[in-house]
Amino acid sequence: MSEPRKILVTSALPYANGSIHLGHMLEYIQTDMWVRFQKHRGNQCTYVCADDAHGSAIMLRAEKEGITPEQLIANVQAEHSADFAEFLVDFDNFHSTHAEENRELSSQIYLKLRDAGHIATRSITQYFDPEKKMFLADRFIKGTCPKCGTEDQYGDNCEKCGATYAPTDLKDPKSAISGATPVLKDSQHFFFKLPDFQQMLQEWTRSGTLQDAVANKLAEWLDVGLQQWDISRDAPYFGFEIPDEPGKYFYVWLDAPIGYMASFKNLCARRPDLDFDAFWAKDSTTELYHFIGKDIVNFHALFWPAMLEGAGYRKPTAINVHGYLTVNGQKMSKSRGTFIKARTYLDHLSPEYLRYYYASKLGRGVDDLDLNLEDFVQKVNSDLVGKVVNIASRCAGFIHKGNAGVLVAVDAAPELTEAFLAAAPSIAEAYEARDFSRAMREIMGLADRANAWIADKAPWSLNKQEGKQDEVQAICATGVNLFRQLVIFLKPVLPLLAADAEAFLNVAPLTWNDHTTLLADHQLNEFKPLMTRIDPVKVQAMTDASKEDLVASQTDTGTAAPQGNGELAKDPLSAEIEFDAFAAVDLRVALILKAEAVEGADKLLRLTLDIGDEQRNVFSGIKSAYPDPAKLEGRLTMMIANLKPRKMRFGISEGMVMAAGPGGEEIYLLSPDSGAKPGQRIK
Ligand code: MSP
Ligand code: ZN
Repeated sequence: MSEPRKILVTSALPYANGSIHLGHMLEYIQTDMWVRFQKHRGNQCTYVCADDAHGSAIMLRAEKEGITPEQLIANVQAEHSADFAEFLVDFDNFHSTHAEENRELSSQIYLKLRDAGHIATRSITQYFDPEKKMFLADRFIKGTCPKCGTEDQYGDNCEKCGATYAPTDLKDPKSAISGATPVLKDSQHFFFKLPDFQQMLQEWTRSGTLQDAVANKLAEWLDVGLQQWDISRDAPYFGFEIPDEPGKYFYVWLDAPIGYMASFKNLCARRPDLDFDAFWAKDSTTELYHFIGKDIVNFHALFWPAMLEGAGYRKPTAINVHGYLTVNGQKMSKSRGTFIKARTYLDHLSPEYLRYYYASKLGRGVDDLDLNLEDFVQKVNSDLVGKVVNIASRCAGFIHKGNAGVLVAVDAAPELTEAFLAAAPSIAEAYEARDFSRAMREIMGLADRANAWIADKAPWSLNKQEGKQDEVQAICATGVNLFRQLVIFLKPVLPLLAADAEAFLNVAPLTWNDHTTLLADHQLNEFKPLMTRIDPVKVQAMTDASKEDLVASQTDTGTAAPQGNGELAKDPLSAEIEFDAFAAVDLRVALILKAEAVEGADKLLRLTLDIGDEQRNVFSGIKSAYPDPAKLEGRLTMMIANLKPRKMRFGISEGMVMAAGPGGEEIYLLSPDSGAKPGQRIK
């Protein structure tokens, strides 16, 4: 046997301002299965992670909830840890980026970069919120699109026409935090000189560290030449202050990847077998893998290796990038109930179902992965319950009844045993290459053969015949041994099933190498059902509950909780208004005289409204919910009659009708009770 490999593995650090959902779980489950496989094989593999706790989004959310950022991140960390544990994601350490180890390492790395001349400073001009007294990231500025004139667009791009621009191009800019008109202000920023590492990155990204598709994508950026990267933010900011630069903070993405090191360092303090310095030394012989989603490749495959190189540390052995999760073929959707939180799933279903389903669909590539809920039920029931567990349940009873639970020392199917043994290297290779779907296909192929063999031998018929008892025992002992092999192969994916099987088999925890031996003359324990079928009703209950989550989060905070760094959606319900502001709104009952689609606009309907003393022309983005607009004609709704008229590409919109709902097919136009008359005002 060769020396065990020493491997450090990470998953991306989840933001500490939102719940874990099944999209995140794709990454943590994938990583966990790979780590468990390495441990199963006898390698020294360490899996660390942490919450990504810094940034303005977290600061602002804490403020809104009336707690300190420290309290917020502690609450979220407890929630995340519980979710991961229940999904059987077995971190060796789950830390936080807001930790002393990370402060020290971040400062130290920055100082090394600075002293080696890789940090530049210059003044930049940015929008500043004079009320909140803070600089505004692009996502915190809203205004009118300079290209198409749509109002209420974020500072970097227009959702309507897709234009991208600088926040200073926006017309009528407003702070999304306070509503104040931002002013331009200069401030000194610190930049990491990424171009210093152009050559190194060109080679490193092509040295087998990345999947081809990822390396090709990066080549596009590398070809146009790298830019300096702004790594500083001004106070107020929740993060670490930059050494020697009071009032300046590290941008969250500077200290986030260093959080991998910090979590490992925190673990090393209580694990004498792990050596922090040896792991991170430039000439380290250990292996380092980061598992990430495709959206954060530039941070991990450009900025991070450059930082490590510049600070004198080793670089990652490889970065394993996965695609995004879709549910039923579409982006996860809150209104469809497919934006499923980890907790909501766990309230209804067992974690191993999802682990197996992800495994059965995960390849080495960066393609998106679809969780088709019907296929999920069908596949889990047919493969795990129908094939794997079935072998044990078919055989166990005969051994208990016919031989007091003692498994005899006979192999009744030597060719099959041989085939299982021969398949092991290829299954291991598939796991090693993260080609989980191939591993699962090969394992299920073996399960099919075992089932076919048992069906052919039909111990249940033999058992009824005189003098066939020895044969029945031999067949069932063989069946249980084949089942044991399958469990060994599946253990990285299904640790709970494996633990229950070990209890039934009356054996110590199985490791990969155990597949080379068979049980013989061995006492089994009682057989208890190892896994039950998924009841589709539970899946329905889970999607229903996800829709309820949505309603709950909307009433809690006015909008669904914003996710991601610096991406706080403007929350119109969070700010109180004076009565006068409300009274200034001219809210009226309107009769829809005419409703028609607008040529050249996917989402708009043109409405002709009767508001008592006049008619109004209003464009409204409700077409997705009312594909047959004529049906709206003759119906009453509510409109804001004194909204400033807005010039649109198709004409002037003279007010706004009122509707509720998340969007898409779920937009509900408001109506007054019957009896209301067009033009009546709301009081
Ligand atoms: N905090 C950063 C990562 C810092 S790493 C130094 C971040 N956090 S995140 O919470 O938004 O995402 C965590 C991981 O989950 C990322 O790798 C991301 O790609 C992944 N996913 C988030 N949503 C996902 C899907 N819908 N599908 C698959 N993976 C997804 O990014
Ligand atoms: Zn636009």
